[in-house]
Amino acid sequence: MNPIGPMMWEHRLIEKLLRLFEGEIRKINESNKVDTVFIDTAVDFMRTYADRTHHGKEEDILFRDLAEKQLSPEHLRIMNELVEEHKYSRETVGKLVEAKERYLKGENTAPEVIAYLKELAQFYPVHIQKEDKRFFFPCMEYFSKEEQDKMLVEFYEFDRKMIHEKYLKVVAQIEAQSL
Ligand SMILES: [Fe+2]
Ligand SMILES: [Fe+2]
Repeated sequence: MNPIGPMMWEHRLIEKLLRLFEGEIRKINESNKVDTVFIDTAVDFMRTYADRTHHGKEEDILFRDLAEKQLSPEHLRIMNELVEEHKYSRETVGKLVEAKERYLKGENTAPEVIAYLKELAQFYPVHIQKEDKRFFFPCMEYFSKEEQDKMLVEFYEFDRKMIHEKYLKVVAQIEAQSL
């Protein structure tokens, strides 16, 4: 297997979560109430899985190694766009969190929450498609079989550390709140 395999499985799970946003948007529209537990769970997924684990492997390993290669102008342009799109999704998740916080304080931010959920559900599948259809496969050709095998091992090692990083953060947060 080459390193694209795990990246594409991760895309399928991210798409699955984004599809669930539609039902949630409908519920908020009907009730004008925000299920903050759903938002917290979705945000945790977007931050820990989509951003830290998935974008982490893209940016810290794949894009890092591609930056060492003589990329075609087209591939270089797409890679830079992808990095910008990761930033955009991070910012949108941040705005969603902020709107949820204000909702908890009593402000009616339901329309904002809907807008950010919609933004993520519409934008992110286009980002995934760009990677799946126009970037990952041609990019593998810059790497030898050995380099691809090494990258796959590095991906697995990156993933292995994630569960520990996540729960170190959880404990640190609880600790900070209990002070
Ligand atoms: Fe990406
Ligand atoms: Fe991706």
